[in-house]
Parts: sequence; C-alpha cells; structure tokens
Amino acid sequence: MPYQFLTLAVENRIATLTVNRPDKLNALNDATIAELGQAIDEVRARDDIAGLIVTGAGRAFIAGADISELSSQTPTIAKTRAQNGQSVFRRFETSPKPVIAAVNGFALGGGCELALACHIRIASEKAKFGQPEVKLGTCPGFGGTQRLSRLIGKGRAIQLITTAEMIDAQEAYRIGLVNKVVPPDDLMTATLEMMNTILANAPLAVALCIEAIDHGLEMSLDEGLVLEANHFGLLAATEDMTEGMKAFLEKRAPAFKGR
Ligand code: COA
Repeated sequence: MPYQFLTLAVENRIATLTVNRPDKLNALNDATIAELGQAIDEVRARDDIAGLIVTGAGRAFIAGADISELSSQTPTIAKTRAQNGQSVFRRFETSPKPVIAAVNGFALGGGCELALACHIRIASEKAKFGQPEVKLGTCPGFGGTQRLSRLIGKGRAIQLITTAEMIDAQEAYRIGLVNKVVPPDDLMTATLEMMNTILANAPLAVALCIEAIDHGLEMSLDEGLVLEANHFGLLAATEDMTEGMKAFLEKRAPAFKGR
C-alpha cells in the first residue's frame, strides 16, 4: 500500500517502517497516525513479513505529536485524538510479530510513546528521549504515563514526565528505557541482527511469549502463571515444538515452519 508520510520496505521477511516527514522531525500529524494504523495492520496481515523495525527519516525518530494540530484542539477532539493514537500504538504492542524500534534521533512525546509500544528499543548514541508535554500545558496522550511507568518504574517515570527533561541514549539505557545503545552507523545492522536472532526461533512460541508477557503484566501472578501454563500446553501441539526438541537431540539446527 502506498503511504504519504511513511515508507514500508520488506527484505528477507523483515519490514522496515520509516516515518518520513524529516522537515518536521517526523512529527505525528493525524494523517501520519492514520497511516501508522494502516501500516501495522498491513504488517500483521502479510504472510511475507515476520518482523517489523520502526525508525525515522533524517535526524529524528519522531519529535512528538504535531503541535500545529494540537494547538487548536477542543476537549472532545483532544480525547478522540488520544484514544485514536492509543489504539494505533496498541496494535504495534500486541503484534504477534516482533516489533523493534531503531531509535535514530529525537524520540520525544508521541515518538517516545511509539518506541515504548514497540517490544524492544535499540538506540543510536545520538538518540534523545523525553516526554515534554507538560511544557506545552498538556500530558502524554498516546500511552506514555502508563507504559513508561510500567517499563522504568513509577519514580523515574514521574521524574521524566514532570520535569519534561530530555535524556541521552546512555541515560535511557541506564534506566532501562532502551535495550541497547550502538554507534549511529551500526543502528540498522544491530537492529537487524537482533531481529534475525528472534526470527531464527519458533514463531508461534515467540508470539505466545510476547502475548504472555503483555497480558501477564496486567494480571495477578496466579492468573499469569495459568496463562503461561496454557501457552506451554498449546505449544506442545505445534509441529515446531516437536521439531525444536528433535533437532536439539539430533544435534542439528531446527527448521521451523510456524505451525
Ligand atoms: N510538532 C510540529 N512541528 C515540529 C515538532 C512537533 N512536535 N517538532 C519539530 N517540529 C518542526 C519545527 O517546528 C521545525 O519546523 P520549521 O522548520 O517549519 O520551523 C522543524 O520541525 C525542525 O525543528 P526545530 O525546532 O527547528 O529543530 P531543533 O533542532 O532546533 O530542535 C527539538 C529540535 C526536537 C528540540 C524541537 O523541534 C522541539 O522541541 N520539538 C517539539 C518537541 C515536543 O514538544 N514534542 C511533544 C509534542 S506533544
């Protein structure tokens, strides 16, 4: 599908989705959010795509929601805008195919929030993170107050959100906001390497692990453990589990089929 503000390229079963409004530091206007929704639905539906990398064109990952659109919003339009963005980002987070953010530069406001909705974040040494909304008299609206606190803890999330301070990639790594920091020239290679490591594993097992972690965090420990045991049981019905264990015992690499 052709997009105006995004590019979607597929190579070796890995899709790279690039937000492409570099003159506005890839700020998310409503049209870009709508395209992100179409793109994640396309990625989830296409059989030739096994994993997704999200990045930004130029010197930014995404510098937030488009302030020129937010500046005139009414309360009802603002709420609808937040819920719409939340729904789009949630579709990234619940993707059964792994989603990695390759954070190349500014990841601010909605950009930080999209990175948070990805399963894994790899940052260039040039990346900067922040939730500057309170400087504009508003708050994060695409899940930042919820996902940031779940990822890095309540105290650090309150600090980042209420100070509106920008932090660099090393600090983001120190507090657990990103999984890895690499030199700018190595960003895509490192991201592809991690994606290929994941894609070498059994796809149904990977999908059910993502689902168990995502859902389990919202459950009691006992409920989460039942979910995990059910997934463990379900995977015992797959050809890939038989193949994975057989391959180990036969001292060879497994050939997974995703069934
Ligand atoms: N919404 C709309 N436009 C944005 C934007 C945003 N969130 N972030 C950057 N832009 C635009 C700028 O207005 C500018 O456009 P122009 O050239 O037409 O004037 C262009 O992108 C380049 O940004 P500029 O501010 O000139 O770059 P910089 O290097 O001086 O500063 C930032 C970079 C990221 C620090 C700065 O752009 C910024 O603070 N952006 C807003 C971040 C934010 O508050 N995001 C949360 C929104 S809820």
